[in-house]
Amino acid sequence: MDAILIPSHNLTLKKIMTIQAVLIPGDGIGPEVSAAVCRIFAAAKVDIQWLRHDAGLAAVQGGSKSTLPESTLAAIREHRVALKGPCTTPVGTGFSSVNVALRKTLGLYGAVRPIRSLAGVPTRFENVDLVVVRENTEGLYAGIENEITPGVVTSLKVATELASRRIAEFAFRYANDRGRKKISVFHKANIMKMSDGLFIRCAKEVSQKWLGKIHYEELIIDAACMRLVQDPTRFDVILMENLYGDIVSDLAAGLIGGLGVAPGANFGDEYAVFEAVHGSAPDIAGKGIANPLSLLMSGVMMLNHLAVTRDLPKLKIIGDHIRSAYDRALQDGEKTGDIGGKLSTEQFADAVIKRLPA
Ligand code: NAI
Repeated sequence: MDAILIPSHNLTLKKIMTIQAVLIPGDGIGPEVSAAVCRIFAAAKVDIQWLRHDAGLAAVQGGSKSTLPESTLAAIREHRVALKGPCTTPVGTGFSSVNVALRKTLGLYGAVRPIRSLAGVPTRFENVDLVVVRENTEGLYAGIENEITPGVVTSLKVATELASRRIAEFAFRYANDRGRKKISVFHKANIMKMSDGLFIRCAKEVSQKWLGKIHYEELIIDAACMRLVQDPTRFDVILMENLYGDIVSDLAAGLIGGLGVAPGANFGDEYAVFEAVHGSAPDIAGKGIANPLSLLMSGVMMLNHLAVTRDLPKLKIIGDHIRSAYDRALQDGEKTGDIGGKLSTEQFADAVIKRLPA
């Protein structure tokens, strides 16, 4: 039987079916959490071949001239799904974000971050269950900046009708497919009357098609953030432009235990990249203590996506097994340090594997 060797993890997976997915371990803690996730997937008997490709600093260290090698993009284009660890972006200087480039190049316009309370991870609120949907290609986050003259810089906020309508349609479809009942748009159109004004006008127009099915509301983002931390249970799906979505999704992750326990996915019309929401965490990289849950949960989202888009219901069942296994591990107090436990990355992976069905 053919075998695929994943060099950095020294893992050998049997090639037993056609699902192939790109794995980008990324930088910092990325390779550590990716190795743990691959081990859990193998133990859960996920019939998948991981095709390892690099991006970020890892790509450059591996000899590429680019932080986003053409071979990595080509692999995602060919296989249409990827699981991605974090990629470092230097602050205030240096190369621009690999994540921004990846999302733009592959047309991954819709970011989804489910935020769900986890039994065994005590936080201020117990029943948080919301989804942040973020426009992924425009706004200030696109990082279009210029130095006009020394000491004066500008940052361009681009909003287009096409992208604003596209993400609103995506959010309503996403909500409807999952039985969600309300979409709240966070905006600052009282000040940014044209750009955020366009965003909410498009969202409102799209909402008209869903009248009676999905409730729609608009909230000015500053007060909305206050409401979110006071009572997150009043929210269901939250729709935002790029920069607001970036900030609010981390805030929301903080409501359920932090960046280590929230998954993420980036969808376009052709490709989907599932990624940990946290960064490369240089403060703990190499120590073997990172929480692999964010990437694991993103991997489970990938299985659900493959189950639907490739008509492979078995993958949804395996995803459910992995989800019950990590839920039970957390309930039994088996946790990494970031959420109050003592386990290493690999010990937590073992705890999940022990709770998978035989
Ligand atoms: P970060 O998410 O890497 O770390 C923030 C804090 O959370 C740190 O104290 C870190 O130790 C902790 N943390 C993060 N993930 C954890 C995990 N899985 N387990 C336990 N603790 C965890 O954010 P930071 O420090 O702002 O960014 C570091 C680098 O990561 C930067 O270069 C940034 O650009 C990049 N980054 C990349 C992202 C991506 O590739 N999608 C997303 C966010 C940041």
